[in-house]
Amino acid sequence: MKKLAMIGCGGIGGYHLGHFLQFKDIELAGFCDLIISRAEEFVRRAGSGKAYVDYRKMLDEVQPDMVFVCIPPYAHGQIEFELIERGIPFFVEKPIAIDEDLARELNKRVTEKGLITAVGFQCRYDNINDAAFQFFKQEQVIVAQASRVGGVPGVEWWRNKAQSGGQLVEQTIHQLDILRYFLGEPEYVYSVAARGYISQKEWPGYFTDDLSTTLIVFKNGVQATMMTGCYALEGAAWDSKMTFGGRNARMDYVLCERVTVYGLTPEDAAPEVEGLVIKGDGALRRSDSEKGITTRSNVDFGLICDRTFIDAVLTGDGSKIRSPYGDAYKTVMFALACNKSMATGQPVKIEY
Ligand SMILES: NC(=O)c1ccc[n+]([C@@H]2O[C@H](COP(=O)([O-])OP(=O)(O)OC[C@H]3O[C@@H](n4cnc5c(N)ncnc54)[C@H](O)[C@@H]3O)[C@@H](O)[C@H]2O)c1
Repeated sequence: MKKLAMIGCGGIGGYHLGHFLQFKDIELAGFCDLIISRAEEFVRRAGSGKAYVDYRKMLDEVQPDMVFVCIPPYAHGQIEFELIERGIPFFVEKPIAIDEDLARELNKRVTEKGLITAVGFQCRYDNINDAAFQFFKQEQVIVAQASRVGGVPGVEWWRNKAQSGGQLVEQTIHQLDILRYFLGEPEYVYSVAARGYISQKEWPGYFTDDLSTTLIVFKNGVQATMMTGCYALEGAAWDSKMTFGGRNARMDYVLCERVTVYGLTPEDAAPEVEGLVIKGDGALRRSDSEKGITTRSNVDFGLICDRTFIDAVLTGDGSKIRSPYGDAYKTVMFALACNKSMATGQPVKIEY
């Protein structure tokens, strides 16, 4: 049986372990964390394998066939260089790095080695994307608008932009990845961020943006705006929603939840917004929230994401992986360009 090892046994590591426990055709052989009790707890949950604090020792002893890398954003680099050097296929959590030079170098070496890799953009495996791609086939999109507002995640490193990459790189990256998945490559970004709504008293060690707004121009001419934040207390959060608009039809895409299409047929013509809206003829009318054709998420896309990578390693065929390293690298460079724009106050051209 092929052997799987994991480096980083924290929150997202536990999510992946929950999936592995459903797979009977791989051996859970090693778990590594700087905090040994976390690795030991994963061994206990797995019912197999050995706990390590030193990933090199684990690689030497276990000789894994694949590795899941689930470490915080600031910790990327040496671990991946070692895996590439040893030729071990790996799955790594987003963001693959928070430094452009490091991301570029890692991507170069992964490509040169031709390794099977995957990155944790699991939303790409959701069934709602089939409905979304169907919409894009039928309608030429000209604008997009995205938003996501929530609170501050509990892990300590998240609150420090130097360690996490900041709210946009760490959290909003799922939106950026889906925008790229649907609309192709971005050309320019202009981002502004705001701080000061969250206090040190509330979250000690909090040195990151509370929210950010980004204007994106895609190479195909589509214009998008995106506002996301982590400032919201209970009740103030809102859906992770994107709207894609063409001249005849539009699509609401609620990440990991549903797609609703309006305007492709006469039956689904009304927009879903409540209250008075301006119709195509310019008149104000009350909308009909019953309209629209909705497709709901009904698959465990996180499980499919992990299984797709494992199957790729077992068969040697990585073609079904929807977010290989080289593609995720572009999403990370997209996000880091937004950070650069925030820092300089200038629009930034995206270069991979
Ligand atoms: N795909 C998703 O939807 C999703 C969701 C949550 C988190 N994540 C990503 O997963 C990553 C980790 O997040 P988390 O919430 O699990 O963080 P976490 O802090 O809960 O876990 C990270 C673990 O890595 C360990 N670690 C750090 N450096 C290490 C090293 N050199 N060797 C071994 N272990 C090391 C830490 O001790 C910790 O236990 C982040 O990049 C985050 O963005 C992705």
